[in-house]
Formats: sequence, C-alpha cells, structure tokens
Amino acid sequence: MLQIGDYKIASPLVLAPMAGITDRPFRALCRSFGAGLTVAEMVTSDQSLWNTQKSRLRLPHLGEPEPRMIQIAGSDPHQLAAAAKANVELGAQIIDINMGCPAKKVCKKAAGSALLRDEKLVAEILAAVVAAVDVPVTLKIRTGWSANHKNAVTIAKIAEQEGIQALTVHGRTREDRFNGQAEYDTLAEVCQTISIPVIANGDIDSPQKAQEVFNKTGANAIMIGRAAQGRPWIFREINHFLTYQRFLDPPTYGEMKHVLLEHLQDHYDFYGEFIGVRSARKHIGWYLADTPNANDWLSRINQIECTTQQLQAVSRWFDQHDPNAFLVPIAFTEKTHV
Ligand SMILES: Cc1cc2nc3c(=O)[nH]c(=O)nc-3n(C[C@H](O)[C@H](O)[C@H](O)COP(=O)(O)O)c2cc1C
Repeated sequence: MLQIGDYKIASPLVLAPMAGITDRPFRALCRSFGAGLTVAEMVTSDQSLWNTQKSRLRLPHLGEPEPRMIQIAGSDPHQLAAAAKANVELGAQIIDINMGCPAKKVCKKAAGSALLRDEKLVAEILAAVVAAVDVPVTLKIRTGWSANHKNAVTIAKIAEQEGIQALTVHGRTREDRFNGQAEYDTLAEVCQTISIPVIANGDIDSPQKAQEVFNKTGANAIMIGRAAQGRPWIFREINHFLTYQRFLDPPTYGEMKHVLLEHLQDHYDFYGEFIGVRSARKHIGWYLADTPNANDWLSRINQIECTTQQLQAVSRWFDQHDPNAFLVPIAFTEKTHV
C-alpha cells in the first residue's frame, strides 16, 4: 500500500501532474474511476505571478478529494518554502516539488529537471521546503540529466535524508524529453536503495504494462499521465487487472458518451463559456482518438464556439456511431465509476 505521511492511499495508481490537463474536473473524474491519488498542475513558486487567471484556477484546494496534493516549481529554496507554506494555507495536504519537467520555460530558470545537475541545491531546496510546512513533502524527478549523467539514485538518497516522504521517478532523463522508451532499471535501483515509497512513472498505458512495471521495479505505486488523456477509465481497468488478473471489458459507447458529457459539463462549469469551449477541444479529441472516422468530424466541431452546441455535437456523434444504439440505454446516476 502507498502511504505518504499519515495518508494511506487505497489504490496504488496515481494520476500524473500535467499542466493544462490535470485540472480540478479531470482530477475528480480520474478519482471516480479509481485513481488513489491525483496531483494538481504545477504552480510557480514565484507568488508575484499568482495573480493570473491560470494560477487562480490552480490554487484553491479546499473541497477537493483528500489528500489534496499540489506541485510547486522553482529554484530558489526560500521562495519554494514560502510557496509551499502558502499552498498549505490554501488547503494543500501534500506538497510535491517538481524536478522532472523538461519544459523550456521551467528549465530556463533552472527549475524542473534542470535542477538535477546541482545536487547541493537540490538538498537545500528539499531541506527548506520540508522545514517550512507540517504536511508531507514529496519529490518528482527524472532518472538524471542525460544518458551519461543518471543520478536518480544519488538524488533519491538526498531526498530520503532531507525528509521527503515519497519519490516519483519518470524513467527518462531530461535530455530524453519524451523521446524513446522509459526505462525501469534505474527505478528498480532507486527502490532498492531507499526506504521511502517510490512511485514509478513513464509510458504506463495498459494493465499489462502496469503489472510489468510493478514487477520490474518493486515500486509502491505507479503514476499514469498521457494514457489517462481521454481514457480516465484506465484506472478502473488497471485496478481490476491487478486485483483479479483478468481484463475488464472496455467501456461501451454509451458509457463513453455519458463520461465525456459529464466531463464537459464540469469543465465548462470550472472554466466558464469562453475558455471552457476552447480548452475542452483537446479532451474531446483524446476521447475519440481511437474511434474510426472521427478526424473529419473533429476538425469541424473544433470551429464551434459555444458550449451548448459543442455538447450537442458530441452527444449526436455518439448517437450516430454507437453500434448498440438500438439497445436500451443504461441509466447512469452515480458519480463513481469503479
Ligand atoms: C502535457 C504534459 C504536461 C505535463 N506537466 C507536468 C507538470 O506540470 N509537472 C510534472 O512534474 N510533470 C509534468 N508532466 C510529466 C508527467 O507528469 C509525466 O511524468 C510524463 O508524462 C510521463 O508519464 P506518462 O508516460 O505516463 O505520460 C507533463 C507531461 C505532459 C505530457
């Protein structure tokens, strides 16, 4: 079982933080499908930048399912400590520090995975943040800077020494960005070296892969990112496979329609009309990515600028393409899908 501080997490499946994607509605949806833990999108540690709509939507944490885990990014120990404290005041119950992001904007300021190059600074940051808050602090890293500089094991030891309570490792280096395949040997080495919980991450996109990563690494939990885009039920499928060693049937078109429409409504409620209709397009595309003949339709519905019309168009698409459309529809009333 994954335990972070006093928080015992019922399912060993964690939704990865993904900026611009794992917003509050999507996190709630993934929890309803059995994600044991979700991480909010990262916020900069520079509080002078918090007065934007983007940050305002990311920051309030009360009212979310517990434990509420948020992520901060930055490079100045004092600034990160202050940001952690401010987030705890806003309701965060676990603080995650981002040392895994390869994005240019973060790395230009030597934050994210760029920090892995400076082990002394890593220790200073971790010590400062741990001392600043009385909630568990966790860390997310990559395996190192580049193929020749894989220092995940060293960073893991530093993390444990400095009081970090769980470590997530993405099986790529900073230089890999998202290219090639994630590797799990380094993750296994990390698991053997430290005794705090380790969360394995990278390219887990199916129940078999989830089982394989647990077997190869000995990790306490796994983290799923891109494979959950448009497929929030992946948590239900993996939990089922890990428990019963049997595959669960994929969702029917009827269930997909219900889940997507509910997701869209929550998304609009959260972002409002103007941003909502635009930022929902990527989610619709992901839900329909594996369905035949959706491409032309997607490029057309991406012109829609009104949430009501977008919702109706999605509903119609499912009605027209559902192979079981003439069967009696299932009634969905619960907001849990496990
Ligand atoms: C669009 C996108 C945004 C991301 N944003 C963050 C982020 O804010 N913080 C972070 O630590 N990692 C971020 N990541 C990395 C993911 O958390 C995860 O480590 C990575 O996608 C590998 O996992 P996966 O193969 O399951 O997707 C992001 C990844 C993607 C694709």
